[in-house]
Amino acid sequence: MTPALNIINVNKNFDGTIALDDFSLEVPRNSITGIIGPNGAGKTTLFNVITGFLPLDSGKITFNDKNVARMPSYQIMRLGVARTFQQLRLITRMTVQDNILLSFQNQAGEHLKNTFFFPGRVKEEEKRNEEKATELLSFMGIEDKASDLVEDLSYGQQKMVSLACCLASGADLLLLDEPVAGINPETIDNILSVIAKLPEGGKTVVLIEHNMDAVMQVCHTVVFMDEGKKIVEGVPESVRNDPAVLKAYLE
Ligand SMILES: Nc1ncnc2c1ncn2[C@@H]1O[C@H](COP(=O)(O)OP(=O)(O)O)[C@@H](O)[C@H]1O
Ligand SMILES: [Mg+2]
Repeated sequence: MTPALNIINVNKNFDGTIALDDFSLEVPRNSITGIIGPNGAGKTTLFNVITGFLPLDSGKITFNDKNVARMPSYQIMRLGVARTFQQLRLITRMTVQDNILLSFQNQAGEHLKNTFFFPGRVKEEEKRNEEKATELLSFMGIEDKASDLVEDLSYGQQKMVSLACCLASGADLLLLDEPVAGINPETIDNILSVIAKLPEGGKTVVLIEHNMDAVMQVCHTVVFMDEGKKIVEGVPESVRNDPAVLKAYLE
């Protein structure tokens, strides 16, 4: 089976600073891949080039066998790629439910023509989306927060909402930038158990995370990168015990 995501010899520099150095990675469908590495290793840049937020200098990236390397971001998203950000991009003065509703793609109500000529269809779609939002929030165990304003939630709960928004997009490939950084152990467990269930629902996950225990717990494959290069790739246990990784984490 072809990989969900195939990154082939990708290079990216910023005015001579090499952020990605001949980076290659195959991500199998319905898997969870963890990207670890020190600050400045190029992890976020990797997400930025996969999603078309930044152009790459050279190389190729395919998603479901389609070359996305020169595509604009919105088109890549439309193919089924979604991401979360280190800086959560939520509308904090809106409720949790409304943030989720905004994330559903292709809402009929967004097309003015439908609003005028098929108001019934729009109402139906709204109702269906509300049900889907409730279902999603229950899946994540935060259905009791649906009508809370995002600004009233703890940081950990806000991170759950940002993950929920990512799932609401319906994307098959989810890129999560530090999904559990900076939150309490209980919420970490909740988020990890949600992430662990995603592959059986047909999702492919790539996550960046400093929390080694979290990475060990949910990832099928772990990649250690440094200075834009892939240094080690393998099953979590072997990567954790790799001398280069041990050295980086002890420093
Ligand atoms: N938009 C940018 N403009 C200039 N330099 C950048 C930009 N984004 C990242 N870099 C540089 O690229 C390197 C990799 O950064 P980044 O991908 O953010 O690392 P990580 O997420 O692993 O901490 C760093 O040297 C960083 O300073
Ligand atoms: Mg980063």
